[in-house]
Amino acid sequence: MTPTRQILIAPSILSADFADFGREIRAIEDQGADWVHVDVMDGHFVPNLTFGPPAVKAFRRHVRTVMDVHLMIAPVDPFITAYADAGADILTAHVEAGPHIHRTVQAIRAAGMKAGVALNPGTPAEAAAHLIDMVDLVCVMTVNPGFGGQSFIDMTAKVRSLRAMIGDRPVHIQIDGGVDPVTAPLVVAAGADVLVAGSAVFRGGSVDAPHVYGANIRAIRDAVQHAGA
Ligand code: DX5
Ligand code: ZN
Repeated sequence: MTPTRQILIAPSILSADFADFGREIRAIEDQGADWVHVDVMDGHFVPNLTFGPPAVKAFRRHVRTVMDVHLMIAPVDPFITAYADAGADILTAHVEAGPHIHRTVQAIRAAGMKAGVALNPGTPAEAAAHLIDMVDLVCVMTVNPGFGGQSFIDMTAKVRSLRAMIGDRPVHIQIDGGVDPVTAPLVVAAGADVLVAGSAVFRGGSVDAPHVYGANIRAIRDAVQHAGA
């Protein structure tokens, strides 16, 4: 029997109050978040715009856990140093963002960060095959990136392929998009161990009612408790 792996919850601050990021980050961490997921969008690779390096640097002052930065930008390479300077612990780039993802991963690690690669729903698991030995995380998108609050797209077959590919290597499989207490057990059973959740964590809560964030995080944890693969 495979031992149950520890499941980490990474709330996406894309669903936070944009006028109050410092308190929002402290609230989700106080309420049990393992990582803080920061969605960087450029209005080119994805049809939405979010945070440049100065914004991410300002978030850093409030993050006590792990700042997990998901780049949905193209090109990536000219911005790697800026996000390292902004304090990213993990920097994830999309394999679809350019022709040289291998070089991008090398550059992320050379800048002192952990490296992730993300796969859009239309991209097969095999796109990560030759990167597995040089990454810390593979992010399986379960929505087309660009917006929070979209419906989950079933990528469990891809997660299973990646889990088989990764074997015993210390590489996380992260799921991003539409994760909630109903969908989380499906991906955990398939082999995922890091769950990004935006709307399912922030829904119904606020910095003045942070216990709702805690209840939402616990609901996801409880749902996956017996789903470990
Ligand atoms: C989508 C982002 C996700 C998103 C998740 O482009 O990468 O991190 O914020 O939000 P929910 O959990 O609401 O789908
Ligand atoms: Zn994301």
